[in-house]
Amino acid sequence: MSLFYRAGMKFARSLPAERAHKLGIAAAARGLGPKHDAAKHDILKTKLCGLDLPNPVGLAAGFDKDAQAPDAMLRAGFGFVECGTVTPRPQEGNPKPRLFRLPEDRAVINRMGFNNGGLEAFADRFTARRGKGGIVGANLGANKDSVDRAQDYIDGLTRLWGLADYFTINISSPNTPGLRDLQGETAMEDLLGRFQEARQSLAGDQKSAPVFLKVSPDLDPTAADRIVAQARMYGISAIIISNTTISRPDSLKSLLRDEPGGLSGAPLKDRADFMLKEFAAASAGRIPLIGVGGISNGADAYAKIRAGASAVQLYSALVFEGPGLAAQINDDLAARLKADGFKSVAEAVGAV
Ligand SMILES: Cc1cc2nc3c(=O)[nH]c(=O)nc-3n(C[C@H](O)[C@H](O)[C@H](O)COP(=O)(O)O)c2cc1C
Repeated sequence: MSLFYRAGMKFARSLPAERAHKLGIAAAARGLGPKHDAAKHDILKTKLCGLDLPNPVGLAAGFDKDAQAPDAMLRAGFGFVECGTVTPRPQEGNPKPRLFRLPEDRAVINRMGFNNGGLEAFADRFTARRGKGGIVGANLGANKDSVDRAQDYIDGLTRLWGLADYFTINISSPNTPGLRDLQGETAMEDLLGRFQEARQSLAGDQKSAPVFLKVSPDLDPTAADRIVAQARMYGISAIIISNTTISRPDSLKSLLRDEPGGLSGAPLKDRADFMLKEFAAASAGRIPLIGVGGISNGADAYAKIRAGASAVQLYSALVFEGPGLAAQINDDLAARLKADGFKSVAEAVGAV
């Protein structure tokens, strides 16, 4: 790690969390971030729903909500980058402060509320990076005041068709009132049914980009069977487990623990891993899973892969470690796979 990078991280930690984040994105977009070869380890090359990934370690949604720096994050060593959540119309999100670091817990609480510059600006940035390579997905959401939330996801898909390498239907953020109700059986049937229709009519006889469904860790685990069945019925390509949690584990030490919002980082890991295992059992290999929540090192990433994740994503650990973490996790993950005699990531998926 360069002295300059270390000094930058120290300075960022001295700022309020949201300002630090904004500065980090601006610095990355100007090419000031770390540079690591995402394809350094042959053993990490893998396929996810037809997408060729140089490694299975992705950047989770919410870090780059407006698609300002996906190429910088790919250059930092991430195997894929998910931009968004984007909503059709720009929106301010919740009043500040709305992003809190809990250093004692290696955790973050956020109640951002889908602050973003809207679909047009987002799509323009995807257009500007066309042909640059690397896997960059679009995480789609609904405006807080939307009268037809399912239509918002379809608007996102339609505008970004041919621009994003994959799409994520995010129905699990806790900071847009009522959004998580879309995980209920009837609401999901309406949303996924209409989304699939739109997707089929956009694709015609061409192949569609993959579509992922991102779920909450706070779901009743018995919902896993039903969600897997609905996802398969409506052509969802993979399920992302999970978003942030509104629960507060007893272990939390920070005085900020009761700030309202979604908790992420280390204290989310156990719950996210538990839900990943529930979905792995429900799926029995019929639909790929992407494991997210509390990853801060190679061991965490490896555990999710062994629990059934074909790929993983992370965000909160970057707040404490900086974007150089992606390359460190890759080095560690490659070593762990080899030490256990695996020849590929795919071989280790679900190998308990
Ligand atoms: C500040 C912040 C903003 C987030 N915004 C979004 C978002 O807009 N859409 C989304 O699907 N997930 C969002 N997430 C959730 C992350 O993508 C991820 O699912 C969650 O933080 C768990 O992973 P982690 O423990 O590695 O952070 C956000 C997380 C944080 C910390």
